[in-house]
Amino acid sequence: INTIGVLTSGGDAPGMNAAIRAVVRQAISKGKKVKGIKRGYAGLLNEEIIDMNGQSVSDTISRGGTILQTARCMEFTTPEGQQKGAEICKKHGIDAIVVIGGDGSFKGAQKLAALGINTIGLPGTIDLDIACTDYTIGFDTAVNTAMEAIDKVRDTSTSHERCSIIEVMGRGAGHIALWCGLANGAEEILLPEKYDYDEQRLIDQVVNARKNGKQHYIIVNAEGIGHSQSMAKRIEEATGVETRATILGHMQRGGSPTCKDRVYATTMGAMAVDLLCEGKSNRVIGHKGGKFVDFDIDEALAMKKDVDEYMYEISKTLV
Ligand code: F6P
Repeated sequence: INTIGVLTSGGDAPGMNAAIRAVVRQAISKGKKVKGIKRGYAGLLNEEIIDMNGQSVSDTISRGGTILQTARCMEFTTPEGQQKGAEICKKHGIDAIVVIGGDGSFKGAQKLAALGINTIGLPGTIDLDIACTDYTIGFDTAVNTAMEAIDKVRDTSTSHERCSIIEVMGRGAGHIALWCGLANGAEEILLPEKYDYDEQRLIDQVVNARKNGKQHYIIVNAEGIGHSQSMAKRIEEATGVETRATILGHMQRGGSPTCKDRVYATTMGAMAVDLLCEGKSNRVIGHKGGKFVDFDIDEALAMKKDVDEYMYEISKTLV
């Protein structure tokens, strides 16, 4: 391997820059050239390819977002798009690519590997919804951002003796909601993996909590359930308790990465280069059982993940 490409794909996540920086600097330390591919697979297909050196990534480890920009690219899901991508890599002398993104991005990496480009995937998403790993780049920052925001909503909720529904991101997965629900001591956590859509139970609980003197009632609702505004309206009408919905939205994707996100993303970025230098390809790096590990992409994509059962159980008993 002489030249390693690096790209970020899908939703951005804090810590992606730390991973890019580690890829660039570890590759240079091993005598390799590095090319940055801008705007994910879309940028690859448009040949938005830049030379990178140690200097290109200076002063980036603490920055949120991704200096390479990112995109979701439909064309790259087609065999024609993938073939074109592999040819562009060859044209630019890129013989390996580090792809930082989620499952969808790994599928692209899998196809490139089959077409002769060595690939390593790094789990980059705030959603934590990648089955082969207990950690994804950006999750830690996102839950800390959401947790601080929910604390703030709770202050005003208590002052006004309201019920507050706070919707957090996560696409179809409830990991962000579960972690925030526990960290914020929420009265209720609604997860797409678990919610029974029994709104009457929710209403009864709000009424009982008020009778028992609770000054607020915090419901952390996952994006996968959504409809927080209409839910708030129905709860207010049924309980007589003033209810407000707050959708945290994209603020959860921004901000300076936490120490954990910087250190894990850095380790994973360096490890991706080491694996490529050892001749490995079509692998995804994960963190499992306290260790950094790597899996075959096909194997990784076939794995399944649910929210942590025990954490969910205790969230119900600790209210
Ligand atoms: O995958 C990260 C994520 O932020 C999800 O939590 C959310 O569903 C989605 O991306 C939002 O995507 P967009 O930024 O395209 O609106």
